[in-house]
Amino acid sequence: MRIDIITVLPELLKSPFEASILKRAIKAGLVEVHFHNLRDYTTDNYKSIDDTQFGGGAGMVMMVEPIDKCISALKSERDYDDIIYMTPDGETLNQSIANQLSLKENIIILCGHYKGVDQRVRDHLITREISIGDYVLSGGELGAAVLCDAVIRLIPGVLGNETSALTDSFQDNLLAPPIYTKPREYKGWKVPELLFGGNFPQIEKWREEQAYLRTKERRPDLLDD
Ligand code: ADE
Repeated sequence: MRIDIITVLPELLKSPFEASILKRAIKAGLVEVHFHNLRDYTTDNYKSIDDTQFGGGAGMVMMVEPIDKCISALKSERDYDDIIYMTPDGETLNQSIANQLSLKENIIILCGHYKGVDQRVRDHLITREISIGDYVLSGGELGAAVLCDAVIRLIPGVLGNETSALTDSFQDNLLAPPIYTKPREYKGWKVPELLFGGNFPQIEKWREEQAYLRTKERRPDLLDD
């Protein structure tokens, strides 16, 4: 998989890809992530990427031309499955969207700033709009990092234990059950006895029940789907 990220703040985005699982996935060649600075596609001496709104109103708007030039340059090199714009009014990211995107070959992610982008970018260049939640960030970069993390860890081979993504919260519309490790007892706080018995069908049944109970208590909305 290849991800091209268009941003005015590449330095804000780089560190999540330089540590832990994402770094390993890139090193292993399972994913390529490339950053493109929108200012490299400007045409004036000031390297402007934004301007005031037609019709008046507070806040600057990102201009169509540098974005179009950058996306066109990328599209001339390869085909893209999706060109995603990170925006608070997009569809809210969930595990199902992450699963879908993890199967794509090439995607572009455009990070917005200021008031957002000229609507013509969204009408003519973007194929999908994603929000990471009902709150407003100062730019799309942190949202793009969240999206990339959720997607990249699902690419086969990225997680050490292939099955572990399948038991994540949300994979079956259920939250994950409680988990424990050594010691068996700490300050009198005990691990449920049945986890020691080696009765794996019983343990599996307990985990399913716990996942259901936790979902019912914390996120009953997930059980409606
Ligand atoms: N840009 C600003 N706010 C955002 C959000 N909630 N999700 C994605 N991109 C954003």
